[in-house]
Amino acid sequence: MKPEERTFVAIKPDGVKRGLIGKIIERFENKGFKIVGMKLLQVTPELAAKHYEEHQGKSFYKRLIYYITSAPIVAMVIQGYNAVESVRHIVGATSPLNADVGTIRADFAQIMEYNVVHASDSITSAEREIGIYFKPEEIYDNWQSMQELIAYDEERYNQQGL
Ligand code: CMP
Repeated sequence: MKPEERTFVAIKPDGVKRGLIGKIIERFENKGFKIVGMKLLQVTPELAAKHYEEHQGKSFYKRLIYYITSAPIVAMVIQGYNAVESVRHIVGATSPLNADVGTIRADFAQIMEYNVVHASDSITSAEREIGIYFKPEEIYDNWQSMQELIAYDEERYNQQGL
């Protein structure tokens, strides 16, 4: 089996202000993904410019920077099999109008400018975006999934004849 991947997800200011943090995180946890990094932070204009450098010069760029710095975001590193592509499926198309029903953007957003979440679009972008928001020591994957945890305990119980 190929190794797990990591991707970067941000709950944007509209998601935080509307009280959707729990509902959004639930979607990723329901899928079985591990959240290995998470923080609430106020994005500075400098940080926003780094994150969205590929959009510099586009018609929506200035509004995008204003919006992403307007209130805190929740930044996350999500780990699992095919995490980049799979998380993009859960998040849905950039425009909520085109997002499939059942995706976060279809279910919680109305327009592109306020599309509630950001998710990396490739493994390369994920590595870059994780590096912008997280130091290596802020990522914790040294805890077990439920399945691994049960298997570990089972082995110990057997060893002790319990
Ligand atoms: P996100 O996935 O964070 O990546 C860039 C963001 O720019 C996008 O989601 C939208 O929130 C925002 N945006 C605003 N207008 C546009 C547009 N016309 N095309 C693409 N993205 C846009």
